[in-house]
Amino acid sequence: MHKDVESVLLSEKQLEKIVNLLAKKIEKDYNGKEFIMVGLLKGSVAFMADLMKKINLDFSIDFMVASSYGSGTESSGKVKVVSDLTQPVEGKDVLIVEDIVDSGNTLNFICNYLMTKGAKDVRVVTLCDKPARRKVPFKPDYVGTEIPDEFIVGYGLDYDEKYRNLPYIGILKRSVYE
Ligand code: PRP
Repeated sequence: MHKDVESVLLSEKQLEKIVNLLAKKIEKDYNGKEFIMVGLLKGSVAFMADLMKKINLDFSIDFMVASSYGSGTESSGKVKVVSDLTQPVEGKDVLIVEDIVDSGNTLNFICNYLMTKGAKDVRVVTLCDKPARRKVPFKPDYVGTEIPDEFIVGYGLDYDEKYRNLPYIGILKRSVYE
C-alpha cells in the first residue's frame, strides 16, 4: 500500500467485480444501439479503460475535459468545457463515463450541454457516488458503488495530480492534505 494511503476502500478485486457488473448492465441496455462512450478526463481514465474492454458491443469512444471556475477547494458550481468532443452528437446516444459524482455540478452541466448540442439521449455511468455531497440534484444512471465522504485516491482519482496510477482506491491520510 502507498505510504500516503490510510486504508484501501476498494481493492483491485472489488473494482474488477464492480466493473464487470456495470459492463453487463450496459451491454444489455445498449444492445442494438449506436452509441458514443465519452470519458471525462482525467479521472475516468482507468475505469473507462477497464469498462470498455468488458462491453461486447460496437461503439465509438471520445473524451471531454471539463473544469470548474473559481479558486479554493470548493467548486463554485460554474463548469466550463475545456476540451470538447471530436465528433458531432446530434441524434446520438451518449454514455458518459465518470470516476466520481460529488456535488453533481460537473455532470449536471455536461449532460445539459450535450442535450443542447442535440444528443438523443445522455446517460451517466459512475464508478463512485457520494450522494451526501450533492449540491444540485443529479442521479447517475449506473452507479458502481456509493462511498462515504472521505478523500479517496487511486484508479484515476487524484490529490494534487498524484496517486492516479494506484491500482486500488484508497482513503488518503489526512496529514497529506491538512
Ligand atoms: C472530479 C471528477 C468529476 C468531478 C466531480 O474531476 O472526476 O469530474 O470532480 O465533482 P462534482 O460532482 O463536484 O462536479 P476533477 O475536476 O477533479 O478533474 P479530474 O477528472 O482531472 O481529476
